[in-house]
Amino acid sequence: MAASTGSQPSHFLEPTAKTAPNTLAIISLSKENFQPITLQQSDSAVDGYAEGVTLNTRFGSFPHSTLLDIPWGSQVRASVVDTGSRGRKRRRDEVEDEETPTSNQDDGNDTPSSAPAKRAVVASSGFIYVLRPTPELWTSSLPHRTQVVYTPDYSYVLQRIRARPGSRIIEAGAGSGSFTHASARAVYNGYPKSDADLRGKVFSFEFHELRYEKMQAELKHHALDGVVQLTHRDVYDEGFLINGQSPKASAIFLDLPAPWEALHHLARRKTLKGGKLDDKPGDWESPLDPNRSAFICTFSPCIEQVTRTVTEMRTLGWTDIDMVEIANHRFNVMRDRVGVNIPNEKGFSSQPGDVGEAVKKLKSDLKRTQDFHKGQTSQLVSDASESKMDVDGSTPESSSKDSNKSEDPLWLQGRVVHRTENDLKTHTSYLVFAILPREWDEAAEEAAMARWPCGSEGKTIGNLDKQTRKQEKREMLAGRKRKKQSDDTQTTQ
Ligand SMILES: C[S@@+](CC[C@H](N)C(=O)[O-])C[C@H]1O[C@@H](n2cnc3c(N)ncnc32)[C@H](O)[C@@H]1O
Repeated sequence: MAASTGSQPSHFLEPTAKTAPNTLAIISLSKENFQPITLQQSDSAVDGYAEGVTLNTRFGSFPHSTLLDIPWGSQVRASVVDTGSRGRKRRRDEVEDEETPTSNQDDGNDTPSSAPAKRAVVASSGFIYVLRPTPELWTSSLPHRTQVVYTPDYSYVLQRIRARPGSRIIEAGAGSGSFTHASARAVYNGYPKSDADLRGKVFSFEFHELRYEKMQAELKHHALDGVVQLTHRDVYDEGFLINGQSPKASAIFLDLPAPWEALHHLARRKTLKGGKLDDKPGDWESPLDPNRSAFICTFSPCIEQVTRTVTEMRTLGWTDIDMVEIANHRFNVMRDRVGVNIPNEKGFSSQPGDVGEAVKKLKSDLKRTQDFHKGQTSQLVSDASESKMDVDGSTPESSSKDSNKSEDPLWLQGRVVHRTENDLKTHTSYLVFAILPREWDEAAEEAAMARWPCGSEGKTIGNLDKQTRKQEKREMLAGRKRKKQSDDTQTTQ
């Protein structure tokens, strides 16, 4: 199904197998270093690059032509880039250093030339990976306009507020769009065809005009504008209705400086700040789905904010209120091969493995010192021979040879150890969760009674089921018997 504004669905939601022009790609430069770029097709030299639009990194230059129409996740080798007129221009400017610039992508001055684009030639070193955009990679590489919610927090939040395909989420403020991308993927069950098409959707609100405009452009570029509806609004004053209509949300995420200021808008009846029902509700609608409980999470860095939020939640009838703080630690579990004189490589620790090996090492060091001084002064030699240490011929070389004799494959040698790695990037905040049950009236009670009758049962439900099952089995066996008899009669005729 196509996006509301574009012809292709978002790569965040429905990935294709290969990279394509005019789409977002995340370039992995190293384990923790990602760069988002828009892949571009060039028919001619651009901005002095004879190969067309080129990405320059500290690992080399990558004409976009080498990044297009390849499977996502491919490793791409750097190219020897012909800087063409760009190089001549730089020489004219007496630029001493002829190295390719290591800036972001280019100078933002993509002036095409009339010469056709040259084929890229592979360089001797340097590579990158071209990755399909995902909310996690976008969070790691997006342009920060605000503090953002990181993956460890939003993955937990989304499951606690029951976000799933088809859910309708209210989010404020949108900020840099980190949470927005993750929630759009969580609720996606196809692009809505009209406002009446109540598919999964994120209703996002942002009051900062510039941030709103940047995010609107990003959503369009990422083909998410059909799944995310961004509104420029101060939600403390104006609440969460869209053109006076209810988004019918059952999940809410508030990353605002004062979430308690917005809570009274998230009620079942028009409520004033402080919890008093508005006696002039007019044609006010609740932004919440009337048929479901609403699940909320607020994200606040200070406990004082939490206290005010919880107080307001209690006043407004929210239940099951609790607070969580996510503390992530990443552990690197590996096999550590210890022992002196083993190769000085990753995974090898050149410390003595035990006391025996340490003593042998000391003896060998001492012997080497003795050998060095032998012949220089006879006095030194005689001193050494009186040493209390029993220097025998054995050296750690022999012991390490012994230890390396292991028949075990490399990955089974050594001890399993774990070390903490740099913590995952996260922005520590307190997560307050709560539930606002759906309103319950006589009609709801009657509907529930009709669906799940209780109080007037003649028999216990389990017992009745068992009897029904037995009766069904009896009828099935009788049916089989009848069929067999009629088959037998037909064959004898
Ligand atoms: C910390 S940022 C949100 C970051 C976002 N959750 C993310 O993951 O990228 C908070 C945002 O709330 C916006 N904001 C603050 N008060 C607001 C209000 N009353 N109405 C709407 N947005 C508001 C700010 O402009 C800011 O962009």
